[in-house]
Amino acid sequence: MQAGGHWLWGHEYEAWSTTDGEFYINNVNELGQAFAMKGGLFLAVTDPAAISHIYSKHPYEYLKSQIIRPLIDRLIGKSLVWAEGDQHKRQRQMLAPVFTNENVKNMDEEVHNAADKLVDVLREHIHTERVTEKDGSVSVNILEWSCRATLDIIGNVGFGYDFQCGRSEEAKAIQQSWRELVLMGMGFMGFAAPLVVRAFPFITDLPVRAIQNQGEIKTIIKKLAMQLIEQRRAMQSDEGMKNGKDLMSTLLKLNEKAEGADLDQLLDHICTFVMVGHETTSAAINFSLLELARHPEMQEKLRKEVTEFVGSGPGGEPTYEEYQKELPYLDAVCKEGLRMYPPASHAERIAMIDDVLPLRFPITTASGEQVHSIRVTKGQHINIPTIAINRNTTVWGPDAEVFRPERWLEHGGVPAASSLTQGWSGIFTFIEGPRICIGYRLALFEYKVIMSALLKNFEFKDTGAKLATQFSSTLQPFVEGQKHDGVQIPLFVRDLHQ
Ligand code: HEM
Repeated sequence: MQAGGHWLWGHEYEAWSTTDGEFYINNVNELGQAFAMKGGLFLAVTDPAAISHIYSKHPYEYLKSQIIRPLIDRLIGKSLVWAEGDQHKRQRQMLAPVFTNENVKNMDEEVHNAADKLVDVLREHIHTERVTEKDGSVSVNILEWSCRATLDIIGNVGFGYDFQCGRSEEAKAIQQSWRELVLMGMGFMGFAAPLVVRAFPFITDLPVRAIQNQGEIKTIIKKLAMQLIEQRRAMQSDEGMKNGKDLMSTLLKLNEKAEGADLDQLLDHICTFVMVGHETTSAAINFSLLELARHPEMQEKLRKEVTEFVGSGPGGEPTYEEYQKELPYLDAVCKEGLRMYPPASHAERIAMIDDVLPLRFPITTASGEQVHSIRVTKGQHINIPTIAINRNTTVWGPDAEVFRPERWLEHGGVPAASSLTQGWSGIFTFIEGPRICIGYRLALFEYKVIMSALLKNFEFKDTGAKLATQFSSTLQPFVEGQKHDGVQIPLFVRDLHQ
């Protein structure tokens, strides 16, 4: 058991409020890869064998908590993120064909168009700003920009809707609502609410404005998707509508074959893709840009690679396959960014059975005994701090907390597979097992296309602002001492072609 902790909420406040998962990282380094926390009676686990046991071998015996599921439903509906057990298996089987390599490859045009539009609107913004640095760069909160492209992509590939690079009323409403939710989660209420809901679960149904507002984004997206379905029905036959290229058309086709699936659930799927797909991907891009701004030599190296490479796609752009195989430094920056800053930086599961968690790295108990497994009882809350898994010094070495893309290119730079979790590239950012992020191929493709477009056109420089992060739905950055100003990553941005 970790020592100390508040008399009422144990270690939970410390864990919730420290930056970059520091609480977990420090404890893992000191106590080992599994330790008990006072408070909500959590067991924190980062050990790869225990993680694999929970996520890959027994995913339906370790479930999301009853606190989180009503919130997920309210925010994005009863789709994959919400479903458990057989319901999840059925939904996953139905949705898996949507995000295959082949399908993501076919999203190429939408992804490139969105990246190009982002470059245009960012350029326009820079040139209309009056306050510039000596070199002509402008201070920009990059958070407000990259999400425009990722929302555009998922709008287009999801249901053929154009969010106009953040300019449509719906895009503005979604962003506004999301920011409010995130800010609420970062205030004291964000910490206290889960504790209260744990004690009084019915509270999630109370007609309290802050709670009911969580449904706003779902309402906007479902309304838009329904309007589009009706428009298409009015314009063409049902057959024509199902032959569209977007995910909604694919789902309409699959929907017919799937037993028990209905239109409302289809809209929940669309809503889920839009929300979990766009914020996470833009967060990944933002944190990488921050690190590249802090390391100009890495930024220049990456710019050189993406500028000099002549691909076999239209206009010399790399093709989907070339983005995967022919741009090694871009790949390394992408992996390192996702390792250091997993957007979904924390997760929680509840044991549904009495069980034993195996440990790859034995731990020493307070009495000095070395143990190779931990007994858990039904109802045990388990905290899985992804950020601490990805930055674990025992596994990644003393520079685990340093952004160093080169490690992915060096012989022996990446730890042996047996010390790592089994997700994509041995990091836990997309988790592992049957619930691994269904959209990860699309996310990686978007990341690479958007990052290349931005670096070819702009230079990013550190403003010197001291940043901290906190988990609120996803990993949120803010300027230290200025949390009330909202989430931000301020960067100086200069147009390279002016
Ligand atoms: C860098 C970007 C992304 C990251 C870091 C990310 C991360 C994750 C993580 C950690 C989970 C597992 C959550 C859990 O069970 O605890 C997840 C699940 C999911 N993600 Fe992503 N995601 C990203 C992009 C996307 C995109 C682009 C889409 C779709 C358009 C998407 C759709 C989903 C869905 C539907 C699930 C639920 C899967 C299931 O439970 O079977 N994600 N994602």
